Amino acid sequence: MRIKTFSILLIAASLLSCGTDKKEAEATPQAKPNETAVSEGYRQMQQKCFICHFEKMDPAKKDVMIAPPMARVQEHYKPSAASNEAFVETITKWVLNPSETNALMPGAVRKFNLMPKLPYEEADIKLIAETLYDLDFGAMPKMRNHQGAGLKLNAGKKWKLNPGTIEQVKSISQKLGDFTSDDVSAYQQLGREIFDNAKTILLDKSYTGPIFDQIHFFFNGIEGNMHLLIAARTVDEAKKHQTLLIEKFKKFNDFFE
Ligand code: HEC
Repeated sequence: MRIKTFSILLIAASLLSCGTDKKEAEATPQAKPNETAVSEGYRQMQQKCFICHFEKMDPAKKDVMIAPPMARVQEHYKPSAASNEAFVETITKWVLNPSETNALMPGAVRKFNLMPKLPYEEADIKLIAETLYDLDFGAMPKMRNHQGAGLKLNAGKKWKLNPGTIEQVKSISQKLGDFTSDDVSAYQQLGREIFDNAKTILLDKSYTGPIFDQIHFFFNGIEGNMHLLIAARTVDEAKKHQTLLIEKFKKFNDFFE
């Protein structure tokens, strides 16, 4: 079903691009205030990515979403990219070969299933990725970072998780609490470890429906800090996110057991 929809979309997209390529090429707009939005990269993104991804979050279209909005993708990938080049490389690698192992958005993988591998040219994807790095999506409703938006009890009781999950969270929060180093790369490694744990839990197929949503809400709330810990450039910066993560992990026990 999904595959069928996808092929129809692809066909539609290629028809669309055949029909419009020439006209658009002639009408290449001159530099405008938002140059990125009228670039070749942006046009490629429209043709190759917006067939599944909306550009921005639109609450009215939430029910027909089949992939996370591009703005959210940028929001996830940009903070942890060391440079523009690193960002372009990561995105390109992803599009050429999406895999659970490389996913930075495990919640989206669960919700929409893994993005299919797309038969696009590497050069085109790079151009799109450069555009995605620069694109200014403007003000968006922030869903991340305010901890636990949507988090609630199960009719007054805590949500019951598998003992393995509880153990996993316990051991990672303990490690987080005890951790100290004067080497920033050790903190980055800690961040990756926390993220890998979060990812295993989010990808655990035994959680579905409301309980999955709650787990997802919890990790949404710490996602920004995890990515920024991974990307920390100084020990001070890392410690700041460590402290925030410790605080946020404490809440886990208020909602789950
Ligand atoms: C056929 C539909 C489809 C098309 C076309 C598509 N995507 Fe996706 N994409 C998805 C879905 C579904 C997800 C969410 C699941 C996932 O993350 O794998 C996703 C997720 C992503 C992610 C986040 C991956 C992660 O989990 O960390 C990136 C980055 C991405 N897409 C980039 C692109 C780019 C760039 C293009 C255009 C070149 C594109 N996508 C075109 C369906 C699509």
